[in-house]
Amino acid sequence: MKGLKIVSTGRALPAKVVTNDDMSKLVETSDEWITTRTGIRTRHFCEGETQAALAEQAARRALEQGKVEPKDLCACIVATVTPDHSAPTSACLLQQRLGLPEDIPCFDMNVGCTGFIYALQVARGFLLQSGRPYALVIGAESLSRITDFTDRGTCVLFGDGAGAVVVTLEEGGIYACTLGARGDAEAILIEGPGPERPYIHMDGQKVFRFAVEAVPHCIHVLLEETGLSLEDIDWFVPHQANKRIIDHVAKKLKVPNEKFYQNMMRYGNTSAASIPIALDEMAEQGLLKKGQKILCVGFGAGLTWGGALLEW
Ligand code: COA
Repeated sequence: MKGLKIVSTGRALPAKVVTNDDMSKLVETSDEWITTRTGIRTRHFCEGETQAALAEQAARRALEQGKVEPKDLCACIVATVTPDHSAPTSACLLQQRLGLPEDIPCFDMNVGCTGFIYALQVARGFLLQSGRPYALVIGAESLSRITDFTDRGTCVLFGDGAGAVVVTLEEGGIYACTLGARGDAEAILIEGPGPERPYIHMDGQKVFRFAVEAVPHCIHVLLEETGLSLEDIDWFVPHQANKRIIDHVAKKLKVPNEKFYQNMMRYGNTSAASIPIALDEMAEQGLLKKGQKILCVGFGAGLTWGGALLEW
């Protein structure tokens, strides 16, 4: 079986950093409440930057770092719930801005916060069919555009950013993926385009209960499929929605907390961008070593969930 390998990574964050104290000037909240309930301390908000510009910056970094030429790409997929336009998609804008070949698929995928994992698996499908060696997978969000800054239950949670990876197939490498969905418009609802600005609505407790069930489920499915055990996994890279969700899962699985990478304190929940941003930070810090087994797991609007186990 041909495994999926991450060749290189990149990330982009808007310049503006917003602290919990800044949020407390907008709604009745406090640094103490946000930190203890979510782990989030700061987040970045776009101020002039577009979602496509963030996606472009992250993608350029990943391509440069991997020394990958656009002509060697077989697909460009952007996972997002906040594209700048319904059309052209962000992936089509990247085709233009990065000078990607015209004979490859370029499209956006909306799978909520699970988008990056779904996009990895779709990219693998294109790689298996294509003569070209690489695919570009990006998660990019400008969630501040759809945040209701009068709703303290949601506005403190989200942030903007983008992460990108270049992937290729690897003979013999470990790879497994699990994806799932359960339609539910009450847990998380992002309004469609209309005369009013679309907002995110969420039943926080329902989402919390869903997340602490979905993450261990994905992990168990991937371990069963590969015959690996929890101890064999070097890093768990979960969607960075909330520290309490991740801590709860680590405790439930009896896995040392340090094996679950966390950066939501700096960025908040960046939806489809959170896992590739985390991977880029980890790579930059030298945390990821060749041959290590990395288990990425996402969950979010849809409801959707998904996990990917791969070797670094
Ligand atoms: N600051 C201060 N108080 C707040 C607040 C804020 N930012 N947001 C909500 N509250 C208040 C509520 O109004 C409520 O007050 P009340 O008791 O007077 O009615 C109280 O805090 C408890 O609200 P509740 O919604 O029960 O809090 P919670 O402990 O469930 O925490 C979340 C709220 C959102 C942090 C939590 O439910 C959560 O993390 N859910 C998962 C969300 C998530 O990760 N979503 C993305 C998935 S991709």
